[in-house]
Amino acid sequence: MAITLNENEFVTIQKLIFQEVGIDLQSSKRLLVQSRLLKRLLYYKFDNYLDYIRLIQVKNTEKIEMINLITTNETYFFREIDHFEFLQKQIIPNHPFKKKFRFWSAAASVGAEAYSIAMLLDRSMAKGDWEVVGTDINTEVIKKARIGLYPEKWADKIPIELKKEYCLKGRGRHEGQFLMDRSLVENMDFTVGNLMKYNSEVGKFDVIWLRNVLIYFDDATKQLVVDNVMRNLHVGGYFFISLTENLNMLNTASLESVATSVYRKIK
Ligand SMILES: C[S@@+](CC[C@H](N)C(=O)[O-])C[C@H]1O[C@@H](n2cnc3c(N)ncnc32)[C@H](O)[C@@H]1O
Repeated sequence: MAITLNENEFVTIQKLIFQEVGIDLQSSKRLLVQSRLLKRLLYYKFDNYLDYIRLIQVKNTEKIEMINLITTNETYFFREIDHFEFLQKQIIPNHPFKKKFRFWSAAASVGAEAYSIAMLLDRSMAKGDWEVVGTDINTEVIKKARIGLYPEKWADKIPIELKKEYCLKGRGRHEGQFLMDRSLVENMDFTVGNLMKYNSEVGKFDVIWLRNVLIYFDDATKQLVVDNVMRNLHVGGYFFISLTENLNMLNTASLESVATSVYRKIK
């Protein structure tokens, strides 16, 4: 017999996800949540969702597992190419010589965005002159980002000269995959971080990308997240959201718009 996540149970999960992650799960997502969490019920041999909800309320490691299953982690290399061009043409050449360039992929997923940037920076700057930090609330995607191993198909979006230089073709049990060059990883750091809080430990950045995540938040949460992230941006630094997102309805007095979905911190 199918196990159903009923309306009350869904609302409990909805509230929990909203409080912890900020994601505003619409009612239409009930069946999706039901199917994503089913494997955890089967793992625990539960025959109803209420038992699972009781468990996540007392067991933090399982709550983390649940968050990992609920977040949507779609990403790819060189996503929204206009932003890479802006970075290459407008930001990198104007960065003060010998000042370390710090970049933050603030909803990094499995790291495709962070490695795309790392390849470009490594081409333009000496090793040690740049650093890329990736954070995400999902502990599983951060583990994957640290490894930097991707299906071969994902390399299709990587410019050919970068692919040749930084993507190592897998052999044997890694046939059909590629590994990001280890020399990049030395200048990178992937850690778990929640955008609902100020992430003081990652420090200040010249450029922050917060792309394809605001879409999951309501306006009040967007404001909270943007305010948190702004504390990590140097005055004069650049802030990018996705081309499909906007900051309408938010107070963005410290930012000026410089290109589509690109902002500069002015105070
Ligand atoms: C759709 S992916 C976007 C990945 C990448 N920025 C891109 O544009 O390709 C959204 C990511 O945001 C993460 N996320 C959602 N809520 C978060 C939060 N409160 N704190 C940190 N990361 C969060 C998810 O785990 C997911 O990996």
